[in-house]
Amino acid sequence: MKKMIDKSTFRTANMLQGLSWAAITVLAMACGGGETAPATTAPAAAQEPAAATEAAAPAAGLITAADITLGSIDQGMVDKGKEIYNVKCQACHSLGTNRVVGPGWEGVVEQRKPEWIMNMIVHTDAMLESDTEAQALLEECLVRMPNQNLSKDDARNVLEFMRTLKPEKPA
Ligand code: HEC
Repeated sequence: MKKMIDKSTFRTANMLQGLSWAAITVLAMACGGGETAPATTAPAAAQEPAAATEAAAPAAGLITAADITLGSIDQGMVDKGKEIYNVKCQACHSLGTNRVVGPGWEGVVEQRKPEWIMNMIVHTDAMLESDTEAQALLEECLVRMPNQNLSKDDARNVLEFMRTLKPEKPA
């Protein structure tokens, strides 16, 4: 009995894996042709019900500059942020300037506003649907960043870690 279940679970997993590779191929082809609209809407709707709510009102609930206080670097937050990076972000983001799947993080805090970064982390789908800079990145990277389900506090810790990734400045 148990064996049968294991086997079919395994088969389903295999099928799902095949499907997601097909989806990635289609997505890459669509982006290559300069058409981002169809590729960006389809996977979001399938992902989770919350994405639909966000898509309906992209501006509502986004993090604003007033929500973020930046003081001197808080090492405790940096450590937490780095740990989250190791577990949830490292597969796609380097800490240098080179792209893996997504862009490298070095200097990102100098290119983007803190609230933009936080929204990209917490409200990934809304950003990819409504923000022109996020859409430009998607066009470049050809892979849609999956929402990593971080709390606002965790995203803030990651932001703190990112603040330590500035390029070396001549003294
Ligand atoms: C499956 C790969 C993947 C994972 C995992 C991932 N990202 Fe991304 N990320 C991307 C891609 C690809 C982009 C570029 C936008 C797009 O194509 O959707 C991106 C863009 C970003 C950006 C904007 C970067 C810039 O240069 O402006 C931030 C910030 C970001 N991701 C944060 C995170 C954080 C934080 C995590 C972990 C909690 C994470 N990402 C996990 C793929 C990923």
